[in-house]
Amino acid sequence: MTASGQLSTTDGSTWWRSAAIYQVYIRSFADGNGDGVGDLAGVRSRLDHLADLGIDAIWFTPWYPSPMDDGGYDVADFRDIEPLFGTLAEAEGLIAQAHERGIRVIIDIVPNHCSDEHPWFRAALEAGPGSVERQRFWFRPGRGPDGAEPPNNWKSRFGGSAWTRVPDGEWYLHLYSSRQPDFNWDNADIRAEFEDVLRFWFDRGVDGFRIDVADGLVKDPALPDVADGDETPFSDQEGLHEIYRSWRKIADSYTGERVLVGEMWLPDMSRAARYLRRDELHSAFNFDFLVCPWDVSRLRDVVTRTLRAHDDVGAPAAWVLSNHDVTRHVTRYGRAGDTGFSFADRLHGTPVSLELGTRRARAAALLTLSLPGGVYVYQGEELGLWEVEDIPSALRQDPVWARTAGADPGRDGCRVPLPWSGSAPPFGFGTGTPWLPQPDSWAAFTASAEAADPASMLSLYRRGLQLRPSLGSASLAWLDAGPEVLAFTREPGFVFALNFSAEAVSLPPHSEVLLASGPLEDGLLPTDTAVWLRR
Ligand code: NOJ
Repeated sequence: MTASGQLSTTDGSTWWRSAAIYQVYIRSFADGNGDGVGDLAGVRSRLDHLADLGIDAIWFTPWYPSPMDDGGYDVADFRDIEPLFGTLAEAEGLIAQAHERGIRVIIDIVPNHCSDEHPWFRAALEAGPGSVERQRFWFRPGRGPDGAEPPNNWKSRFGGSAWTRVPDGEWYLHLYSSRQPDFNWDNADIRAEFEDVLRFWFDRGVDGFRIDVADGLVKDPALPDVADGDETPFSDQEGLHEIYRSWRKIADSYTGERVLVGEMWLPDMSRAARYLRRDELHSAFNFDFLVCPWDVSRLRDVVTRTLRAHDDVGAPAAWVLSNHDVTRHVTRYGRAGDTGFSFADRLHGTPVSLELGTRRARAAALLTLSLPGGVYVYQGEELGLWEVEDIPSALRQDPVWARTAGADPGRDGCRVPLPWSGSAPPFGFGTGTPWLPQPDSWAAFTASAEAADPASMLSLYRRGLQLRPSLGSASLAWLDAGPEVLAFTREPGFVFALNFSAEAVSLPPHSEVLLASGPLEDGLLPTDTAVWLRR
């Protein structure tokens, strides 16, 4: 930052390579107007929490006008703010207020689809088959007698068919809910529109975009049937690269290192890394790390593969443990049995030890914060919150729940409004009843309770984020500290160790203990505990 408190452009040349970015899921962060739903006024009132935490940037999940069928990922207008959240003027104020504190702002852009209430989709419905309006989406006649069967066998990622029929008999494609029609990126209007949307927000000072479903925009126009699990015709299509090259040119035409971050759940990391070549995206979330079970060799392997794939293209890795789509990692790591994550099997209801999960989450925080590259912190993980698995069915809002007839509990459990203070719900979230119920046991996990406790998860994150810049930018070298210890060095002189074995182990040679995720036992590193050392 400059002396005037503004973000300087000179310190910005590589900020995104090592940034700590905090994800704000607006509906659940803080409610400023008492309607039970988080909003921009709430965020503005809690910026101190983020400044004290020591993050470099905020990523806001979609804040655009939306019927909220999919929590705002169903966008009705890409150039305005959802009235439940506030106004465009407030968003501009929030960007400026964040910048004054040295915090950059990344917003979500949702280019794969829009809401069924977007004017272009409404116009397409009205204009009818064969119209230019319909060419902006994927409208097709059905198969079978009277076209009563969907045009192909693609499944929605939220369950059921990826096609919905409209009254005139045509079907439209939606890889997510039926209220999220997919755009046709072969259509020039779509390309021009999104380039303009990028400029609209860059002009308002945003520092970057998190690109929703970044691997899915381009479809094989033949729309072929697929075998179960095959996503080839609608994921990782070669045509995506030219789209991101044009976006990169736009980002680079602005001062201050504006960034593009891809959300891509690709099975092959080297394929994902191709999007991070120097003239494409700046970074992409590392989901292989997120889904990895609590296992020393698998974690070592995923870190190695990640760094290698990113080094090959000169891009930084982006480490992430949780987000608004996955089971919170305190719960994942506390599960009896499989501690990994997959959308196909959420393991909802499998017995969980929160004590074990918390212990591991603390160690995982120190691991993530000390790996080379950038790191994401999902709101509430700094408080050690867990997945709320007992939300009553009638209150569940995620379309995944309804589209799978309850077979998949969906993502509401990681989206419960944050506890800020006090000893009973709504825990300072706002004055109204939160849109999802908070557990009573969160009384001990409010931001204010944890701020006062040096042993809390919040204190650990604060200290870790404070020390993190001093770890430098060097890559890591694995250190042999025994088969069940994950250990590495980063020059000059930083040493990390995490003990996965049941017995306490001795610490690698060091001159100073910088930080530990839990108490050491007679100078030994206990099970599921991580430590930062100075050699
Ligand atoms: C990924 C987002 O993170 C998720 O919340 C959303 O439902 C889908 N993309 C569809 O937009």
